[in-house]
Amino acid sequence: MTVATLSHAHRFVAAADAGKTPLLLLHGTGGDENDLLPLGATLSPGASLLSPRGKVLENGMPRFFRRLAEGVFDEADVRQRAGDLADFVEEARTAYGLAKPLAVGFSNGANIAAALMMLRPGALAGAILIRPMVPLAEAPQADLAGVPILILSGAMDPIARPDEARRLAATLSESGAVVEHRVLPASHGLSQADVTVASDWLANTFAG
Ligand code: MLT
Repeated sequence: MTVATLSHAHRFVAAADAGKTPLLLLHGTGGDENDLLPLGATLSPGASLLSPRGKVLENGMPRFFRRLAEGVFDEADVRQRAGDLADFVEEARTAYGLAKPLAVGFSNGANIAAALMMLRPGALAGAILIRPMVPLAEAPQADLAGVPILILSGAMDPIARPDEARRLAATLSESGAVVEHRVLPASHGLSQADVTVASDWLANTFAG
């Protein structure tokens, strides 16, 4: 059931296994809070799932921040919305008694997760960024020492190109994050390879 309280409409699935790191699920353009729940349950069975809906509407399609055109972001809005989302994570952690979550973001959701990490470095335990771009041209100085981040690009992706994700990976690494960037034989859409690589990475990085 979608919950309308707290600052974002969201779905929350309580942990069956309280020892597992909660997942913050961030959908792509036109998705909503229901989209990534099956992916979250597959990646980390039994973990709590916190899945907000983006508050920006583009022709009726929910997003996490405004864009001026495909791939051209309203960076003032990115900063504002990333801060709002970080506040939501704090609210939800208090409301549901959650440990710091690991973000799993797809496309627009990956971009807001990357921005959130750079602007509010303490908010997340790490991230799986699927088909991200560079959300902020001027990367904020952030201390992400030791924060694990998996970036998954699609070799044939015409929207979130692997080269752009490489620049994001470099920026996050310079901030101290432990970044693994994999380029998969895929386009912009989620593929079985994403699920396999992300599950393995999660099991190795967040054992227990
Ligand atoms: C999207 O369609 O969501 C883009 O690829 C990424 C973005 O606009 O943030």
